[in-house]
Amino acid sequence: MPAPDTSALGPEFLWGAATAAFQIEGAAAEDGRSPSIWDTFCRVPGAIDNGDTGDVATDSYHRWPEDVSLMRTLGLDSYRFSLAWPRIVPEGTGAVNQAGLDHYDRLVDGLLEAGIRPNATLYHWDLPQALQDRGGWPERATAEAFAEYAAAVAARLGDRVTDWATLNEPLCSAWIGHLEGTMAPGLTDLTAAVRTSVHLHLGHGLAAQALRAASPGQVRLGITNNLSPIEPATDSEADLAAARRADGHINRWWLDPIFGLGYPEDMVSLYGVELPLQGDDLKTIAQPLDWLGVNYYFRQIVADDPTAGVPGFRQLPGPGSQTAMPWEVHAPGLEQLLLRVTHEYGARELMVTESGAAFDDVVGADGRVDDVERAAYLDSHIAACVRAVAAGAPLSGFYYWSLLDNFEWAYGYAKRFGIVHVDYATQQRTIKRSGERYAEIIRTHKGTN
Ligand code: FCB
Repeated sequence: MPAPDTSALGPEFLWGAATAAFQIEGAAAEDGRSPSIWDTFCRVPGAIDNGDTGDVATDSYHRWPEDVSLMRTLGLDSYRFSLAWPRIVPEGTGAVNQAGLDHYDRLVDGLLEAGIRPNATLYHWDLPQALQDRGGWPERATAEAFAEYAAAVAARLGDRVTDWATLNEPLCSAWIGHLEGTMAPGLTDLTAAVRTSVHLHLGHGLAAQALRAASPGQVRLGITNNLSPIEPATDSEADLAAARRADGHINRWWLDPIFGLGYPEDMVSLYGVELPLQGDDLKTIAQPLDWLGVNYYFRQIVADDPTAGVPGFRQLPGPGSQTAMPWEVHAPGLEQLLLRVTHEYGARELMVTESGAAFDDVVGADGRVDDVERAAYLDSHIAACVRAVAAGAPLSGFYYWSLLDNFEWAYGYAKRFGIVHVDYATQQRTIKRSGERYAEIIRTHKGTN
């Protein structure tokens, strides 16, 4: 099958892959790294499938040069990774651990030498446990600590890294970590969750100011949100209202404040929690964004369910094929989201900072992984990007999730998202068929541009 026609994306389009520190680095206690809330959560009996931890992961703290050469083989233009706050400010505030920063310094140099543009995320969920012990994100001080950490990172890397994201998927930190309880820190407390969401946003705004102050004129600032198109299960009044609430909970709560619209009032009154806002906080939160990162995995078909707790909806399985998560494969949802943030929010530049799928990969007798479903996922989601651009979305890059199989949070190592297979016993990396497909798409794109 020929690679999808991507010429509409233009010659400057960035092809990348994404990872996150806790999911790949390992080296949990090396060079002064302190425990994060995920190290703690991994020790809670039953929290993680198979009792897996991030202690070793894909050992990328040591093996990053091999990972960079894999990126070169694939032909990637850019690599999206995150920095581990507990390596850099182990106590959450105060002393900066230069040994922790050294790792990212080497990684950034290695990427630049390989001609790969770094796209660095400051926070992909691994809060220093020391801050959690002082109350974590429900406390305003954590947002202030985040800005301090951002300044330390910028002072060291701001001369070479241009593309920065403050937060990855704050929805997961707040709603899954503090309301549903299936991610760290594992709370089920609506007040804590709402306070967390506001402090994450405040942290985003303060960190954005810190980054821009440290490297004036050189920062291209973004934030990445996981968004889902919402569809009511039926056109009953109750399901339509549930869809509106789900959209508020999943999309509008995370977009409105960063685009200067404040928090959606219907949701503020639904949650019934006083927002911990002071003075000019809403202005701080709405820092101008150079780009918005969209992480897309699935649409949500929702039905009213008063028994489900606030916000009172339940998600129904979609009719399309399912991944191993199981999440429905539905590429048109990506196109819809890109157009929505373009038209409704006026985002001036977009990047798909994550999109990917887990399948139950089989390693053949020849050692190869013939993951045709993942290759097809890539084709269909890239085609959705092409359609969105043709319809006016200012999309400048696509990062597949993930470069490598890795620690998939509460699912441990059981769910594999990589275009590169990792044998966890030996740490051997093997490019899957989907990786070859991605390389072909990238080569074809560059050939026709
Ligand atoms: C996203 C996360 C990422 C990864 C993918 C599958 O929500 O940002 O770390 O786990 O899901």
